[in-house]
Amino acid sequence: MPARKKRRVVVTAGPTHEHVDPVRFLGNESSGKMGFEIARAAARLGDEVVLVAGPVHRPTPDGVRRIDVVSAREMLAATRAAFREADVLIMAAAVDDWRPRRRLAGKWRAKDGGRETATLELTRNPDILATLARRKGRRLVIGFALETGSGVARARAKLERKNADYIVLNDERALRADRSSVLVLGRDGTTLRLANRTKREIARRIVRLACRDSR
Ligand code: CTP
Repeated sequence: MPARKKRRVVVTAGPTHEHVDPVRFLGNESSGKMGFEIARAAARLGDEVVLVAGPVHRPTPDGVRRIDVVSAREMLAATRAAFREADVLIMAAAVDDWRPRRRLAGKWRAKDGGRETATLELTRNPDILATLARRKGRRLVIGFALETGSGVARARAKLERKNADYIVLNDERALRADRSSVLVLGRDGTTLRLANRTKREIARRIVRLACRDSR
């Protein structure tokens, strides 16, 4: 059998933190587990893997090159650079859609104004998946969708809107759990349901799916 071509795979994982001041941020509960498992599975298959990781405390899987980032904008910059040289992008990160419009240089002090309420103005973060998939050419792009409720129609819409090849649909119960149930929707009409599997098993299936398609 001919040797398998080594693919270059970029995986994003974990949350982003959007700082309000030097010690406070907006963030989310993503553990990074899914993305780290995907990076591990791809590396074990012999792929060259770059893992762009938001702020999580997890060991780097063997054979994976890791780039740590904090905010969505940092994640976009690192992922864009890595994707330039890549065949596959798997966006498992839970990127915050919003960031505070201003990041205070010093600590935000509640006592200064003596007020009981405060307003935080937010500005939209870039959509990393949509931005990079827009000019993906023949490269394969897989996104995730976290939907509360059924969400299949919204996930299908996301597939089109973000120009992804696959969207992996899961729900918020997956956030802190070790097991998950997902529905993989493909632009080619693929639907693959993986019910109550470990994230490691789901990661292997996703990586194999990407294998089948990337040339
Ligand atoms: N994503 C991204 N950049 C963002 C937000 C999300 O790249 N600023 C990616 C995620 O990594 C994921 C996919 O887009 O692969 C779906 O994210 P999700 O938050 O479910 O979708 P949104 O487009 O933010 O839609 P919604 O309005 O439903 O939250």
